[in-house]
Parts: sequence; structure tokens; C-alpha cells
Amino acid sequence: MGFREDFLWGGATAANQCEGGYNEGGRGLANVDVVPIGKDRFPIIAGEMKMFDFDDEHFYPAKEAINMYHTFKEDIKLFAEMGFKTYRCSIAWSRIFPKGDEDTPNEEGLKYYEELFKECKKYGIEPLVTITHFDCPMHLIKTYGAWRSRKMIGFYENLCNAIFNRYKGLVKYWLTFNEINMILHAPFMGAGICFEDGENKEQVKYQAAHHELVASALATKIAHEVDPDMMVGCMLAAGDTYPYTCKPEDVLEAMNKNRENYFFIDVQSRGKYPAYALKEMERKGIKIDITEDDKELLKNNTVDFISFSYYSSRCASADPEVNKLTEGNVFASLKNPHLKASEWGWQIDPLGLRITLNTIYDRYQKPLFIVENGLGAVDVPDENGYVEDDYRIQYLKEHILAMKDAVDLDGVDLLGYTTWGCIDLVSAGTGEMKKRYGFIYVDRDNEGKGTLKRTKKKSFDWYKKVIASNGEDL
Ligand code: BG6
Repeated sequence: MGFREDFLWGGATAANQCEGGYNEGGRGLANVDVVPIGKDRFPIIAGEMKMFDFDDEHFYPAKEAINMYHTFKEDIKLFAEMGFKTYRCSIAWSRIFPKGDEDTPNEEGLKYYEELFKECKKYGIEPLVTITHFDCPMHLIKTYGAWRSRKMIGFYENLCNAIFNRYKGLVKYWLTFNEINMILHAPFMGAGICFEDGENKEQVKYQAAHHELVASALATKIAHEVDPDMMVGCMLAAGDTYPYTCKPEDVLEAMNKNRENYFFIDVQSRGKYPAYALKEMERKGIKIDITEDDKELLKNNTVDFISFSYYSSRCASADPEVNKLTEGNVFASLKNPHLKASEWGWQIDPLGLRITLNTIYDRYQKPLFIVENGLGAVDVPDENGYVEDDYRIQYLKEHILAMKDAVDLDGVDLLGYTTWGCIDLVSAGTGEMKKRYGFIYVDRDNEGKGTLKRTKKKSFDWYKKVIASNGEDL
């Protein structure tokens, strides 16, 4: 009983939130570089306000982030010390294709990730690589309108060809699009989409999503052709939506909200558009350009495993009065009165992780991988820079126990678990450094001040013990 022998314990990061070095190694500008911290961040990531370059009025935290572009060797050494079996990271598209539509990749970018993966392998750490974690080269946004254009499928195909061939034998696990459903909530951050005046936003989002879904299937096809051992997964921002009450109308509302997210995985895992989605689009007057070739590709190239992030469950009500209580930024949700919340208002629901694991496993019957989970909190270091983050340990412990129940008591097939932001990094939602998830403290603040020095937190030794005991010693 317990987790499988080869359970992949580890941590996760994303290029734009940790690397920095935004203009080094021949890297091109990307959407993720130009999202500032502050009040304009949300309208920008939502595609409602245009920001295609830097200006003097804003601070852009991703430009330097935690400087991991230069420190990856020391950082991976620390991950190895914790006993990581896997490290989830992402490739910055514009390091490989600075503009996105070139014919040949940038050797310096390819070399950088080759060294990074080799560094992982040196310690027996299996890289788990997200092909795109919210990033899109700025040239593709300006020239083609990003994922609204079908041409993006070809550019993404070039990226996949370049990285699969180069990293064959080094990387086995790939994720096609981070939180693919984010396109509905933060289309500029998720897919480089910035809306034009008067545009039908739903139409744009679903057409762009279709292009991503086809690109994802194509990636799976290429990966298997390049190396049949490669395992390709999809990635969902998960967290089941509960009905606010047992009123049938609330139950129906919750089902619909869940479908909004599972739609993407239904296509990626089952290989075709689900009936409910086609009906919903028809009702909304959304017409997607889906070719016969697209349908074939989707059908024949479903994912090998399902990965997801889990931070919280959600709640839905059909009652407009109750809905006035809705809060949250990227994913708006009703407040569940039975749950506590983090300092950023994210509700904490370990049992919801077990429920979500079961929902997903029941729905797809494929191996699962939790590739993000964690607590974003304010850490206050003592005079030596040490953080006693018992609250983080408590959060992770409760979630690991819940996933253990899903495995032991419910029989869910779980490949691994990577906690989000294993080293402190820039928050995707808010751009803050203050919202920390890591086992390793990084001395940097919201204004970009600090030495960038790394210090182990109390949770560092705790997680080391968890991994060493394969999740038994919590
Ligand atoms: C997920 C993303 O949405 O949640 C990460 O894949 C992100 O990129 C993480 O950082 C936590 O969100 P936030 O807003 O606290 O950084």
C-alpha cells in the first residue's frame, strides 16, 4: 500500500516566473515579460488592456525574476539535496525561437535547456517539461494575433520538433500547455490574446483554444514518433466545483462550471469535442473552424496521462443573489463557508484534492500527475534569513494525506506530485514576490530589491523526510 515505488516526488517552476535573463542568450520578447505588478496587471493578463512592450511607469518582475537563468546549477543542487525524483520546469519559447516564426532554432537557447536537463540527470532527477507555460513570443502576438491564428499550430509544431529531437533520451515527460483552461480567464497571459474593440470574445477564445487543442494533439503525435518512450500529458487548472446547496439548480450550475474546465481535457483525453460543448457553442452562436484533419489528429493522438494543478475547490450557485458574493481574481468563485482561506483568499480544501483526483480518474481512466499544489504565504525570515513555515508544512501534509487516501482507499493511479514554486518565485496572478510557495527562501521583494540569496526554510528538511519515506513520514 501507499505510493508506488517509483512515485515522482518533486517541485515545479515556470520559466517566466524564475529565469529572468529576459534578453540574454538571444531570447526574444514574450507576453509574460510585459505583464507588470500593480493594478494594471489584471486587465493586461485578461487581454483587456494592451501592453506589448515595457514602459517607464511600471515594474516588470519577470525581467529578472529570481535570476535562475544564471543560478540553475546551485538551485538544482538544492532540489537534489531534498531528494527530488523529478523537477518540473518549462521552456521559454522565445529562447528557442526568439520571434517564433523562424525556420531554425536558436542554438544558445537549445544549449541552455540541454545543460539544465543534464544537470538534473546528474542527480537522478527526471525532468518534467512544460512546453509552454503561459508564454508566447511577442512577434507572434503582434504579427498573427497569437493563438487566434491557425498559423500558430505550425509554429508550435516547429518548437516541438526542435525540442523533442534535441532532448530525446534526456526528457521523458512532457506537458503541452500549462493550465490550458486559463485561456478562458486570462487570455493574454494564457495565450497571448489581446481583444480588439467590439470583438466577440467568446468566439476568439474558443477558436484559439481549438488551435491549442490541435497543436497539443500534434505535439503528442510528434513526441511518439520521435521517441515512443516519451509520455505526453495535458495540464488543467483543476479543483472541482461544488454546488452551493443541494438545490437541483445549484447542482446543475456546478456541473456546468465543471464542464467549462473539463471540456479541454475531454478533447485531449477522449479525442473529440463533447456533445455538451458543441451544444453550448451553438447556443452562444460560436462557430469554430474545425477541419476534418483536425478531427483525425484529435482522435488519433490523445494524451498518455492527465496532469493538473490543485489549489482549491470552487463553489457555484444558480441564485443571482448568492452570486453577488463571488470573489477572486483569475478564477472567480463563491466563498465556501465551510473552508478557511490563505492570506490571498484562496480557500484551503485538502479533501477537495481527493475528490478532484477521483473525478478526473473516473472520467478518463488514465494515470494522473499532480503538477502543482501549495500555499502562497507571507514568510518572515529571522535575522539569519531562516523561515519557520509550519503553516506551509501543515498545508502540504494535509494535501499529501488526501492524495494518499485517493491512492490507497480509492485506487487512483497517481504518477507523482510536484509542489508549486519549490523555490520562491514571482506570482503569476499578482506579480508579487511576497506570495511565496517555496522550500527555499529567495531574498527579493515586490520592488525587485534584495540580494537574491537562497536560504533553506523549515519545510526544506520536512519535505526531504517526506520524499525519503515515500510519503510515510509526514
Ligand atoms: C498556476 C500557475 O495558476 O498557479 C502558476 O500554473 C502560478 O504559474 C500558480 O504561479 C500559483 O498562482 P499565483 O498567482 O499564486 O502565482
